[in-house]
Amino acid sequence: MHLYIPEKVSEKDHTILLGRKDSDFTRFIKDASRMNYLKDKLGKDKEIILLSNLDRILMVHILKDDHYPVSQKLENARKGAFQVHGMLNDYDVESVIIQNAGLDTGEVTAYAEGLALTNYQFLKYHTKADEKRSKLTSAGIVSEKIDRGYVTSLNNLLKAVYHARDLVNEPLSYLTAEKLSEEIVRMGDASGFSVEVFNKKKIEVLKMGGLLAVNRGSIDPPTFSILTWKPENPVNEKPLVLVGKGVVFDTGGLSLKPTSNSMDYMKVDMAGAATVSGVLYAVASNKLPVWVIGLVPATDNRPDGNACVPGDVVTMYDGTTVEVLNTDAEGRMILADALSYAKQYDPELVIEISTLTGSAQAAIDKFGIVGMGNAGKEAMESLKLSGENSFERIAEFPFWEEYNEQLKSDIADLKNLGGKFGGAITAGKFLEHFTAYPFIHLDIAGPAFNKTIFNYRGKGGSGVGVRIIYDFLYNKSH
Ligand code: BES
Ligand code: ZN
Ligand code: ZN
Repeated sequence: MHLYIPEKVSEKDHTILLGRKDSDFTRFIKDASRMNYLKDKLGKDKEIILLSNLDRILMVHILKDDHYPVSQKLENARKGAFQVHGMLNDYDVESVIIQNAGLDTGEVTAYAEGLALTNYQFLKYHTKADEKRSKLTSAGIVSEKIDRGYVTSLNNLLKAVYHARDLVNEPLSYLTAEKLSEEIVRMGDASGFSVEVFNKKKIEVLKMGGLLAVNRGSIDPPTFSILTWKPENPVNEKPLVLVGKGVVFDTGGLSLKPTSNSMDYMKVDMAGAATVSGVLYAVASNKLPVWVIGLVPATDNRPDGNACVPGDVVTMYDGTTVEVLNTDAEGRMILADALSYAKQYDPELVIEISTLTGSAQAAIDKFGIVGMGNAGKEAMESLKLSGENSFERIAEFPFWEEYNEQLKSDIADLKNLGGKFGGAITAGKFLEHFTAYPFIHLDIAGPAFNKTIFNYRGKGGSGVGVRIIYDFLYNKSH
């Protein structure tokens, strides 16, 4: 769905008037009987008031002020748009004007953003896709101080979220590790970032032991993709590196997951990779003056005759030996190699994002991202602020060194399994071992995939992470 600023609006356009209860709607509604009807409904505290549905939709949507912090106000606007989306579709509306009748411009654009995010569909595998397709294809935004450039960049960001969702929604039957890398190359070509893909041979030569160990049970080769956006005069001297978990399907390996509950949606396990690709797409499309590198290790995780078994010792890319006590803790194995690989860039900061642990999901559910790290207060606070702006909020967990105790192995440098408690944190601590730079770990196991509709975040892949990290990078570069 496309957002635009219309040259002029007419009385014939489908229109949503966005305002507060006390806004002056007479500027937009000349008809006295409609105005009386509206006053009556406003008196009864109605929030969505349909004034016409004959030749055109005319609707008033009241968003409350209520002294919310700005972030909550913007989120209410996005969620408000989700509420009217179904109604617009019922009336086969193809294009709608969102008219500011008394709000801040930020709320109006957030509303448009919410409408576009709600309108996303993944129809690739429906034979009757055309019948299912939403009629809505565009929304015009009318608001006094609106910036044309902002709307263009918002469109690119929304496309990036759509791409990330598409990647997550693709099943393994299409999206193997190699296909994921091909898709990333395609996203790079479309937006302007460059991509280098390492094949299995190269990964073997580099001795990425963690990635190869997880891949041992697979019939499909692994890949390692390097995404680069280096504009001419970047604001940062050292790159920001994003690392995304690309497990295209996680069966658990020989430590097999039980079916039905925990395996059904494990195509989600490359959501971190989807986020990193989405962020690079948005950053490159909008030509942000910030130097960003993305690293995506990718493979599926399966049992097989040659699969890694519990007790195996693996030598990782950086030489660390790891005792694999649970083959379902595979994300940290492939991410560890990517994090070691990142050292050569001497990064200013590395943000790694992954559907890493059921423990993170158990702690906060789908309502946010579990974050932790050693990058210092400034970086974490700035990322958390972006979390509020985008409402992809971070719940920061402790990152105390005492948790390292649980990762000691009797026969190797580390084991890939912590104790019974604090599983999200011990996973983060395992990853930290492979870093030598400021590091933030984001666990999106909870919010990456919605089994039922979750407002404008939709059903299926949510694309979580793209909007928060983009906001962070945008703020860094402005
Ligand atoms: N991919 C899973 C984590 C996950 C859980 C993602 C739920 C999305 C939704 C990860 O590879 C995993 O299996 N983690 C194990 C680790 C454990 C064996 C130490 C877990 O969290 O149970
Ligand atoms: Zn697993
Ligand atoms: Zn996994």
